[in-house]
Parts: sequence; C-alpha cells; structure tokens
Amino acid sequence: MKHPALAIIIFLFCILFIQCGSKIETLETTSPDENIKVNFFISDEGRAGYLIHYLDKKVIDTSYFRFDFQNQTSLGKNLEILNSYTSSFDETWETVWGEQRFIRNNYNELKVELKEKDKSGRRCFIVFRVFDDGVGFRFEFPHQQNLKDVVILDENTQFNLTGDHNCWWIPGDWDIYEHLFNTTRLSEIDALSKRGHESLAQTYIPENAVSAPVTLKSDSGIYISILEANLTNYSEMTLKVDKENLLFQSELVGNDSGIKVKTETPFVTPWRLILIGDEAGDLVSSRTILNLNEPNVIEDVSWIKPTKYIGIWWEMHVGKSTWDMKSGRHGATTKNAKRYIDFASKNGIGAVLIEGWNTGWENWFGTHDREGIFDFVTPYPDYDLKEVVRYANGKNVQIIMHHETSAAIMTYEKQMDTAFALCRSLGIHVIKTGYVGQILPDGEYHFGQWMVNHFTNVMKKAAEYQIMINVHEGIKQTGLRRTYPNMMSAEGLRGQEFNAWSPDGGNPPEHLTIIPFTRMLAGPIDYTPGIFDIKFDKYKKENQVNTTLTHQLALYVVIYSPFQMAADLPENYEGHPAFQFNRDVGVDWDTSIVLNGEIGDFITIIRKERNTDKWFLGSITDENERVVKVSLDFLEEGKEYIAKIYSDADDSHWDKNPTSYRIENKNVSSVDSLELKLAPGGGTAISFIPLGE
Ligand code: NOJ
Ligand code: CA
Repeated sequence: MKHPALAIIIFLFCILFIQCGSKIETLETTSPDENIKVNFFISDEGRAGYLIHYLDKKVIDTSYFRFDFQNQTSLGKNLEILNSYTSSFDETWETVWGEQRFIRNNYNELKVELKEKDKSGRRCFIVFRVFDDGVGFRFEFPHQQNLKDVVILDENTQFNLTGDHNCWWIPGDWDIYEHLFNTTRLSEIDALSKRGHESLAQTYIPENAVSAPVTLKSDSGIYISILEANLTNYSEMTLKVDKENLLFQSELVGNDSGIKVKTETPFVTPWRLILIGDEAGDLVSSRTILNLNEPNVIEDVSWIKPTKYIGIWWEMHVGKSTWDMKSGRHGATTKNAKRYIDFASKNGIGAVLIEGWNTGWENWFGTHDREGIFDFVTPYPDYDLKEVVRYANGKNVQIIMHHETSAAIMTYEKQMDTAFALCRSLGIHVIKTGYVGQILPDGEYHFGQWMVNHFTNVMKKAAEYQIMINVHEGIKQTGLRRTYPNMMSAEGLRGQEFNAWSPDGGNPPEHLTIIPFTRMLAGPIDYTPGIFDIKFDKYKKENQVNTTLTHQLALYVVIYSPFQMAADLPENYEGHPAFQFNRDVGVDWDTSIVLNGEIGDFITIIRKERNTDKWFLGSITDENERVVKVSLDFLEEGKEYIAKIYSDADDSHWDKNPTSYRIENKNVSSVDSLELKLAPGGGTAISFIPLGE
C-alpha cells in the first residue's frame, strides 16, 4: 500500500537550480505525528549526513557514515544526490503470537540515491523510515559495474548524541551478551574494564564499544535506544564510544582475518534503529523492530504455539544432578523425565525440556577438541527417548529437545538434517539450542557474519521441519521472528542460571529492572524465572537468587517470552500456594501496556491474554522498597474481576527474608485502584479473572 510522494513533506532548504533538474541539498521528512524530524544533507566535502529532532530538541546531531572496503577506496565522501523518493505506509497486521495481536506499521519513508562524483561513480541508497516512536535507516547497494564482490572492513555509521547522557550498557563483546548492565554517563563508558570475566566460557571485547540495544536518557528527560533490525547475511553492529565527541560509531563484528562482511551487490544492510520516547516505557511499547522486518513467510503456522514449560535443568545448575552420566547423578533418566512429565500434566504446563539426554557431556566443556563430541541422536543408556516421548504424548505434554552444540559448528551443521528429522519423526516441535564455548572453526566469533548465517540457516531449516527454536548463546534478536515465527525465544543476557553458580554473587536485584528497557527491546527472553527456593541451601550455600519470591512471579508478566519456564524443581512447587499463579498466567498476549517504570528502579506491565478476558500484572523493584499505585481502568468497564494478588509480606526482603509473601483475593472493577507495596528486591504479580470464569 505505497502512496506516492504526496503524503510526505519535503522542504528544500538550500536550493540550487540547475537547468536539467533541481539539485536538493537538504531533505527533510517527519514521523506521521510530525514529532520526529529527520534531516538529510550533503556536506561541502560531499559527505552524506543526517540529524534527528524530537519535538524541537535535537536528539542526534550531524552524523555521517563511511564504508571501508578491501581492495577499494572507501565510500563516504564526494557524494551527490542523484534522486530522492518519498512515500508513506500505513497498515495493521496480525502477529502469529506475541506481546500484541495487532500491530500498526505506519511510517514516512525517504529514500535517497547517492552517487560518487568521481569516475568510479559508485552508487548506494540510504533509506529512512520515520515512525512515531523512532527512526530506522539502512543502506542499499544496487548491482553495479564498479562494485560487485564486496568485502566490508567497516561501516562507521555515526550516532552523534547531543549530551553526556546517562547510559545503560554492556560491553560490545563479539562472543557473548552475558554481562551485567552498567549505568554510567556516556563519557564514562569503559567496556575494556569488563574483559576477563571469569565465569564466561567465551568472551572477546576488542575495544571500548557497547552492544546494542544500548539505552540512554538525556538530562532533559528524553529516552533513546539504539538497536538493529533484520540482521541477515551481515555481521552484528557494536557501537564504538567516542568520549570526546559524545558519539557512537558502528563497529561491525569481524573475524580473525579482519573481514567484517563478505557479500556482493545487490545487498542491503540491517536497519539501524533509534527509538525515542518521553517515558522509559515508550521504548518497551515500541513494535518498530518488527515493522522493519518482512512479513511471515511460513504458510502453515498451526504447529507454532507459545507454551509454558518445566525442565530437567535447574537441578544441574544447582548441582543436584549432572548433565553427564559419569558422576553417577545423571539428571536425564527415563524415570526422572517421567516425574517431570507427571508434574507438567497435573499442573497444565505444556512442555518439558530435558537436557543431558545425549552422550558427550563428559567432554563438552573447557576443551578445544569439541568437534564430534555431540551427535544429537544418541541417548545415554539410562534415557529411553522414544519411551519418554510416548509417555509425554499420553499425558498431553510436549518434549523440548535440547541441542547443546558446544559451539562446534561444523559438527552441528553436518548433523542438523538427521537431528531435525529425528524430532519430526517423534513429533517434537521445539528445540532449545546452545552455543557454549569459543566458536570452532577458530577465528570466527558468535556475532560475526559467518555465525549470523549459521543462526539464519538453523531458523530456516527448523521451519522446514516444523520446529520452533529457543536459542542460548545465539545472535541477538532483531525482529526476524516476524518473518520466521518459529524463532520463538532466546537467551542473550545474564539469565537465571548465573544465580545458581556465578562466583560474583549472581544477578543483583536491579538486574531485571534494567533488562526490559535494554535487552528486551530486541525481542523475547528465555530468562527462566519462577525460582521459589530462593536460597537453595540444600545444594549450594554460596549462591542464591537475589529477589523475593513474588518478584520471581511478576517476571512472567514483566519479561516477555512465548516460552516461559517454571524453572524450579517440581518438589519446590508441589503443594505451594503461589504456584497457582504459574498455572493461571498467560503466555500469548492480545495487548501489553507498560503502566510505569524507570530504568534500573522499577517497572509495572499489564498484559491481556489472547482469546480470553484475563489480565495479568507484574511489577518489580530494585533493591529499594517502594509503593506503586495502579489504576485498574484498563479492565473492561462494568465487568467484575477477581484479583488474585501475590505480594511481598511486610517483612520480605530479597536477602533477609525472600520467601515471605502473601496471597489475597479481591473483587475489583475498572473504577478501582491498587497500591502495590514492593519490598527491597520485591515484586507483585496479579491475575485478574472475570467473575464466573
Ligand atoms: C548454557 C545455557 O544457557 C543453559 O540454559 C544450558 O543449561 C547450558 N548451557 C547447557 O547447555
Ligand atoms: Ca547461557
């Protein structure tokens, strides 16, 4: 539904009329609500630059780009505008699953064709899409004589910020995102100090750069996040920090031969996306990352379904059992699997993940020699895969297959077809993949183009076999779940597992009050919440979860994922009154609304379940206690609901008394409001169920 140039306003600031046509020096386009304005211009040296204003404030000052190529001069100077095109787009589309059922995709587009003025005359387009909540732009290189095979050494796209903003960042690690978020001024970012984290199996931080999404707040109160959309056949963008000029410059992830991207024309880069809002929650409500991806290509989506799950998982992380058999405490036995299946079936939990089911776990970690260790089809002798699947089917429970590749990519690629075919033959529709360790072959990194292509291949091949993917240690999400809705969830952060074994004391209480405004902007998170035995002293005295129990419950609403794990051991849930929330809470949403929040302090989200009239609320705080007022005017007018409120007790505290909580039932309607009292590191979870349902 493209409209001609009409709907967009282009101003000509400097107009040089030349006989054979007008030469536009500065172009301007705005968001549909006209609050965001993008200016594009060519400087005296022929550099292509852009600026962004939000209302009357500059949020991105003059910023340029420059592509450095191998065996070619750089492209970025001596450019002229050959043509420019404008259009508008407005469409509402339906998601297969997600935070929101219907999404409006409404933007104004400015597409500029640039050409080098010298004899090489190379051409590229820069395309801006301006939405009400942000700006996406990308480079498009058409097929051309003087640019065929392309090796990009860097892209150097600038994001010139207009002040020394507060910034929430993790280092631009080429291998892992499992770092704690730091809160500093832009000028104080020191990513190199995060090198050498002892509990990470792989990490490579080459320079003072941050990973995207990176979120900032200006002193005047504008929230900005920089991220990328549709990362395909390209390498990930990290953002190099220029402290003096207060700007970020893209630094693509490469490999040991210094190559960032190898491709050929025609090609397009991923979208560089700048989200802008007055409130922190505006960033979380944005669906623009999905709008910058292509529509769904999977015709039959009947097998794609969000689900809750439990798993033989936490017991290995806390040390109750092991993945391998040699220890004599093997977790993935047929008997134990059946115990989990029984629990799932009894409690309406749709699926069970079983890790450590295949041979190889004796040698998977801490060695370079990892090729050929795992084969993804051979179970340990005490695990009868077929029998477990048969038993699960009989109880209406799905099995989630686990493929830990140990980052031995060639081994996995060779076996993928066989392994996926096995799943298909067993009727298994979900695989959790894992990529712990340095990438083999040597010289490649988790987030370089070679691995990006691997992750794309896995996603596409899985779709062919009707398999949904939940990836750990994978490339960050960039909205591809719109095109491939079998791309369900991902880790891509310091997950719950760090609380089980990290020598640095695990994730601090504020961790999950930062995540919704940073990592979660990229897409769903397999955080694996719901630990009730917060201290697990029976297994480990030196570690604990650093939140209260009801904070753990609230995460089912606050942290979005179409796969939500009830991560604790069945014996810790058995007979526990608070587990009722896990049974009730939805996993697929019609509507999601951020009621309030400040980055690193607190957040409250409400979500309405798809195809029911039930609402759920999650509110969490950092290490500070606080009272959060919420109006219930989101409930349907005139309807009565039972609010089942799971909250911290008066004496709750994430460290001193984390398992103290209370459950209260209240009849409420849209005219009511509630005062949520959150303990230090605490939270509140509420289900609103229409009376009579
Ligand atoms: C790391 C993953 O994040 C975790 O979920 C998994 O249990 C282990 N790797 C083993 O694959
Ligand atoms: Ca991990």
